[in-house]
Amino acid sequence: MQKTQLNVGLLGFGTIGTGVVRVFQQNADLIFQRTGIRMQLVRIADLDTTTDRGVSLPEGVLTSDAEAVISDPRIDVVIELIGGYKPALQFILQAIENGKHIVTANKALMAVHGQEIIAAANRAGVDVMFEAAVGGGIPIISAIKENLCANRFSTVLGILNGTCNFILTKMTEDGSDFSEVLAEAQALGYAEADPTFDIEGVDTAHKITLLAALCFGTRIDFSKVYTEGITRITAVDIDFATQMGYKIKLLAIGKQCDEAIEVRVHPTMIPQSYQLAEVDGVFNAVRLSGDFLGPVLLYGSGAGMDATASAVMGDVMAIGRSICSGAKDRAPVMGYCQEQIIDQPLRPMSEIISQYYLRFTTVDRTGVLAQISSVLGAHNISIQSMIQPERHAADSVPIVLMTHEAKEADITSALAEIDQLEIIQEPTCLIRVETNLD
Ligand code: HSE
Repeated sequence: MQKTQLNVGLLGFGTIGTGVVRVFQQNADLIFQRTGIRMQLVRIADLDTTTDRGVSLPEGVLTSDAEAVISDPRIDVVIELIGGYKPALQFILQAIENGKHIVTANKALMAVHGQEIIAAANRAGVDVMFEAAVGGGIPIISAIKENLCANRFSTVLGILNGTCNFILTKMTEDGSDFSEVLAEAQALGYAEADPTFDIEGVDTAHKITLLAALCFGTRIDFSKVYTEGITRITAVDIDFATQMGYKIKLLAIGKQCDEAIEVRVHPTMIPQSYQLAEVDGVFNAVRLSGDFLGPVLLYGSGAGMDATASAVMGDVMAIGRSICSGAKDRAPVMGYCQEQIIDQPLRPMSEIISQYYLRFTTVDRTGVLAQISSVLGAHNISIQSMIQPERHAADSVPIVLMTHEAKEADITSALAEIDQLEIIQEPTCLIRVETNLD
């Protein structure tokens, strides 16, 4: 007889966990109408069993013992919302061994330990879904795996961290400095008390590692993904970017090149006319380019209790439908049949080609520009445009150059040489520029 009941267990009763309980309770009828399955949250484990989360649970559902969820024979699906590596990895592996399907929002875990988790799930014949791990409520993973799976993707670009996007947007709007806006973001609850993973780009790197793997059918070693955060972006650079018609975003970039892939995260100047440039505040967006579809932009809430719970519940319902219809392995975890996933080389940063924004801090004297441009020329770097403001401090002047496309290795060696010149007063500021969207 076809199964029409799905029992779910939850590990982690924090903000997103509370959102999941709210969806279960508020949309129970809708969930049944859309799936034909009665879904029940039978156990929730969290070390904190006393805080009032504003939702009421039946007696006996909440426990401080994760084992009570992982080993409960009634439970079909375990939702992991603990975050981080330990003990989440161990709990997930144990749950898989016990035959539970997994839904997780844990990008760090999936980016770093995904292959181990997927191998265990394949052995046990269970599913692993992680829509909520990237872009919060934006349905980007299912779009890549399902709706757009007839396409070969050439690029995937994303604004994937709401905290960074909020900070950069505020800096652009108010002309304020990074540290000032970070403090404001923390006060508003948009940034964690310890915001390191967000502002140093690590959270974004976890997410693009997953998206690029899904798009390009390849394994990606997270530790090799170039990751640069936004802590060195200044109000001065944002002002110059605005004058030149650009916005600065923390962009996650995945590109399929002929013989390698590029996967990198760094502050990037993009033309103000790009749709991505209009993604402001805490919002996220992902731009994909498929060979049949062309470009598509998915935009929405990249974090938050309700948006993330929406993605988690969508995964639970998808698994429920598969289990109840007996459709095993309907969509592989990483969007490609496991045996078709290949290792592609990751292009080293020294080999990438980009345009560059360079801000030199120099003395104001005859021949300065000639010295800088002569070193750039000697390294095959051609200048596209230049700004030198009329008003500046008497003893120091910024010179801003936009280059034509150049190889990063050439830029690195040119700057090493230029920063040794006696006319240069501070290390030169470099921001990569993306103008070639396909
Ligand atoms: N900390 C993330 C952000 C949300 O600021 O977007 C969860 O990935």
